Amino acid sequence: MKIFSEKKQFDIFSQIFLTAIFFIVSGVVFFKYSIDISPLIFALLLLLYTFYFKKVDVVIYPHDLCLLAALAVFVSIFTAITLRLPGYAIPAIGFTILITLLFDSLEFSFLFSLFFFSLGASIEGGNLSVGTSLFAGALSAALLSFRVRKRFEVIKAGVAAGFIQFLVAFVIEKVKTEQGFVSGFRPDLNLLIICLLNGIAASVVLVILPIFEYIFRVVTNPSLLELSDLNHPLLRRLILEAPGTYQHSLVVANLSESAAESIGANALLARVGSYYHDIGKMIKPNYFVENIIGFKDIHKDLKPSMSKLIITNHVKDGVDLAKKYRINPRIIDFISEHHGKTLVYFFYQRAKELEPQVQHEEEYRYGGPKPQSKETAIVSLADTIEALSRTVDEPTPSRIEEIVREVVRKRFMEGELDESNLTLKDLEKITQKFTHVLNALFHTRINYPKDEPR
Ligand SMILES: [Fe+2]
Ligand SMILES: [Fe+2]
Repeated sequence: MKIFSEKKQFDIFSQIFLTAIFFIVSGVVFFKYSIDISPLIFALLLLLYTFYFKKVDVVIYPHDLCLLAALAVFVSIFTAITLRLPGYAIPAIGFTILITLLFDSLEFSFLFSLFFFSLGASIEGGNLSVGTSLFAGALSAALLSFRVRKRFEVIKAGVAAGFIQFLVAFVIEKVKTEQGFVSGFRPDLNLLIICLLNGIAASVVLVILPIFEYIFRVVTNPSLLELSDLNHPLLRRLILEAPGTYQHSLVVANLSESAAESIGANALLARVGSYYHDIGKMIKPNYFVENIIGFKDIHKDLKPSMSKLIITNHVKDGVDLAKKYRINPRIIDFISEHHGKTLVYFFYQRAKELEPQVQHEEEYRYGGPKPQSKETAIVSLADTIEALSRTVDEPTPSRIEEIVREVVRKRFMEGELDESNLTLKDLEKITQKFTHVLNALFHTRINYPKDEPR
């Protein structure tokens, strides 16, 4: 989850500092309550894995590290509280759902599920059925809540995971009892109630999620869904004040969502980011080609430098508007990054024609930053491709593919995608997806019969 537009790699000292905080806090908790130290060893492996070996995509920024450190402290306090509970009642499901929604990484959630296996097993003095059932509940909660698009699905995931936790515990306890390994066997009904309550209690995540989002400036799918509602006041304004831009944003959203899905990036984030990327245009809508009605060129009487200023200002205006409407910072990234440092080519050419002796290139560029995530890079490509595709007279499949390839190649060569984490393999998949979606769009447009005059 990249929060900052400006790239800030964390340094070795912050890693050590935050790791130390984690171990001091969790160490105090574990030793104070004389708990088996296996969760602590596991936590060490988790941190080593995350920070040093795997360098998980989600943990690049200091901000993310703070989130991780806060979660580590939270885990420790949480462990202290759960020590008073029976092992089966440790709220592993709710916690894993929270991790899944916040970090948007199944790999990370899997590691936390292993943590609950270790914690559950050691709390009950090496009882593997507690550990295994907590692991099963946590993992299924992660799988069921990963990228859910409705709040209700979070509740469903919690209940289903509670039931899975019960089934696993029940089967293991049954097998053990029948083989005579365990003398006493807990009543099944109690176990079922504990597991289901554990699952239902996971709904609390929905209440605390906005607090995490607000404090740590992250955005999760349930919140993205609220932003994707076309009745959002900002989108309603866009429809009324810049209808052409609104239409353009819808096509960009379709292109970006499909492309993001094809490379395993966050498709919903790409869709919602597309809706908002050009909201700044509603300040001066008539200066943008998609909103110009008829053939009146409003820029004709303006100096190219003035036109360039109006055009590039839609980025700044968009950021200001989004802040005013308290839009999540992750969405604001789409507004500020979608043009990167590209050239306002049309007016640059005009300026060159008027003053060929002057070097204009730097002056006619957007202010950046370049796209910092896969999703913003996809939207930036889709944005240009959508605008170009509208200028094609005969959009044959080969012509469309040519345009898409050319835009992607040029952006790559200019270094615009350098900070986005996109690989060459991703770019090929994105190219194919864009081509496919655009072909489908043009196919639909061409084949619809014209309205008969009535
Ligand atoms: Fe734009
Ligand atoms: Fe755009």
